Amino acid sequence: MKNLLFRPFHASLLFLFIAALAGLSATAQPKPVPNPQLASKEVNARVEALLKQMTLEEKIGQLAAFSPGFATGPGATNQHYDELAAKGGSGIMLNLNNASAINHYQHIAMEKSRLKIPILFGLDVIHGHRTTFPVPLALAASFDPATAELVARFGAVEARADGIAQVFSPMVDISRDPRWGRIIESAGEDPYLGSAMARAWIKGYQQDDLSKPDSVLACVKHYAAYGAAIAGRDYNATDMSEITLRQVYLEPYRAAVEAGAGSVMSSFNSINGVPASANPFTLTQVLRGEWGFAGPVVSDWDAVGELLAHSIGPDGATVARKALEAGMDVDMASNLYPTVIAPQVRSGKIPEAVVDEAVRRVLRVKFALGLFEHPYTVEGPAYDATPERRAAARKVAAETIVLLKNDPVEGVGALLPLTAKAKKVALIGPLADAPAEMLGAWAVTGDPKFAVTLRTALAERLGDRLLYAEGCGLLSGEEGNLLKRVSFIGRDAADAHLPVPDDAKTIAEAVETAKQTDVAILALGESATWMEGEAGSRTTLGFTGAQEQLLEAVVATGKPVVLVILAARPLEIKWAAAHVPAIVEAWSPGVEAGHAVTDILFGDVNPSAKLPVSLPRAVGQEPLYYAQLPTGRPASGDLSHMPRNGDERFMSRYMDEDNTALFPFGWGLSYTRFSYSQPAISRAEVPVREVLASRRPVAAVGVDVKNTGSVAGTEVVQLYIRNTAASVEQPVRELKGFARVALAPGETKHVDFPLGFDELNFYNVEVKRTVEPTTYKIWVGGSSLATAETALKIVE
Ligand code: NOJ
Repeated sequence: MKNLLFRPFHASLLFLFIAALAGLSATAQPKPVPNPQLASKEVNARVEALLKQMTLEEKIGQLAAFSPGFATGPGATNQHYDELAAKGGSGIMLNLNNASAINHYQHIAMEKSRLKIPILFGLDVIHGHRTTFPVPLALAASFDPATAELVARFGAVEARADGIAQVFSPMVDISRDPRWGRIIESAGEDPYLGSAMARAWIKGYQQDDLSKPDSVLACVKHYAAYGAAIAGRDYNATDMSEITLRQVYLEPYRAAVEAGAGSVMSSFNSINGVPASANPFTLTQVLRGEWGFAGPVVSDWDAVGELLAHSIGPDGATVARKALEAGMDVDMASNLYPTVIAPQVRSGKIPEAVVDEAVRRVLRVKFALGLFEHPYTVEGPAYDATPERRAAARKVAAETIVLLKNDPVEGVGALLPLTAKAKKVALIGPLADAPAEMLGAWAVTGDPKFAVTLRTALAERLGDRLLYAEGCGLLSGEEGNLLKRVSFIGRDAADAHLPVPDDAKTIAEAVETAKQTDVAILALGESATWMEGEAGSRTTLGFTGAQEQLLEAVVATGKPVVLVILAARPLEIKWAAAHVPAIVEAWSPGVEAGHAVTDILFGDVNPSAKLPVSLPRAVGQEPLYYAQLPTGRPASGDLSHMPRNGDERFMSRYMDEDNTALFPFGWGLSYTRFSYSQPAISRAEVPVREVLASRRPVAAVGVDVKNTGSVAGTEVVQLYIRNTAASVEQPVRELKGFARVALAPGETKHVDFPLGFDELNFYNVEVKRTVEPTTYKIWVGGSSLATAETALKIVE
């Protein structure tokens, strides 16, 4: 049966077939919850009426996305975009970011094209639009979906004001390998956290109503499993079992689609040998057949053209046909659909019904967005980083900063929060005063002129009590040359601005600066603009340039050091973790970076964020994630089953490094302390049929959390489970609940975590979600190391 499903069926036929199958085996499967607006009778009646009037060329025009000025792909040069708009040849246009450019093309489409179908304008609005918030990985560290929703709301309002009605966001790729630069765009390593964030992004962008004038169409990307690129090399293949694909990598997509996501972007990679942009299994069987998705799938940039390099066909016509038939509706930028589909429809090779189905999906979102009624955008005043916007960006950023370490220093006590005792403060490092770097890797419309650096913010607080030294360059000359070699659009070698640094001299100056002060703050990391995001893969994860030497030299002065890491991916910080008393993970904090970091350093905001991704001891551990599958030879824990004979060599571990993370998933300190009661399960035993009967909770885990310190704080209470006896082995721990709990000093609050099918299910060997009789171990605590334990038994 499975092989049959992988054959190149026509999408519409395959869809009917799958729908029938799904109907037959629906018992334990949750029902799809499609976006009601895309399923509405009114929208679909309008779609059918319009479709009837369309010529084949007009239909295919809706299946093309172009970026004025950036044509790529076979035969895609010299596009005349005015002419294209006038003939309805670009259903989507991307990369325009202001109302006047957008109105220009929209007027042509609405006034000159035969059927007056509005263009949908899309852009990469990733972590805010004009107002730049922290990158998505940082937002996930808040463990606060409301924060992602708020950032999406800001992005939507500001994008719509510029005429953008589709945002290529959220990126929901599970990312377990920080060698992959795009980890910064994700919610990190965990499907449960990733799904919660995905739902929040969709809510924030679409508000459950695409027709609202300040809603935008979300485009969930990159479907699918792009984050599992082999060896962390961007665009590389992914290869994994269908169980892992579904249970880990597809989960946030499913969550987003269930939350009503209106569009999806297919990814560059292949999945188990079938390119994601021509993959009938993911694009049609799962997305449409099982999840009921009714919107369009847009390819990633030139991904249809790149199918030639994936070698799934001898020519453009073949690969484009395979993509379209697989359910890939809109060809972004490769210009293959506009050139090779029509002849194949005319020759009978592609049924016109396949084209029609794809066009329906595009038109549905255009009607649902109200673009036919309101195609234009009022051209307003230039963007202003108002105090309200700044306040929101500052508050959100402070909520994403993780306090990794805060050990007492002799004669000072805990170094953080900084107090009046620190009369003179040294700020050192190449990221202390680098505005563009604060915005992060993908702030398309973010303007560095608004960005507040740490130097600016500390100077506001400390005046001449602050001394500053750059310390070293962000990159060594050698790294700079390497980056010039792999430079991309807008960053050619001549534009690189990478002077060869004289690190020995500047490090010596920084050491002298530190010696004159009571405490040194080091702002180190990597270049967000050069090294992170798309095509930002690395084989090493250390600080770049001479930063590590700088750190060691300043620590050697004996002055207490606070390390602020400004890198949005996990770096290897083993030396720092052993020698620096206070470490703060600040990611790429956005436009209010400096203020947010100082809010944390001075204790105006008590840190509450937790790591959404494990920080490694060594790059060789990657991909490193807490939800590992068990091994018969675990490096620690109960080894009583092993014939030991005193020989501990033959265990699943490294010769030269520990297995564990340096700082684990869920980790993050506060300026106060929290204690947990013994967690209590509401029912010790539940019959399996009750769990399978519905998605309602069948039991709850209750715990009391107390603030035992002397300042107010917020704890992210986390619940982990382990299924101890399943027909398919399950991870040693899985996050299945979390809650942010604000507590005054001495205050206790009770938290209940529901458990039901959604939390307990897994995929069995038939690749069906199920729950079996077993015992779940359950832990509740402040990180994935939580020890307070209870259990739930599922019985026959
Ligand atoms: C390529 C990137 O992979 C994707 O994330 C982005 O949305 C598109 N280009 C459009 O810019």
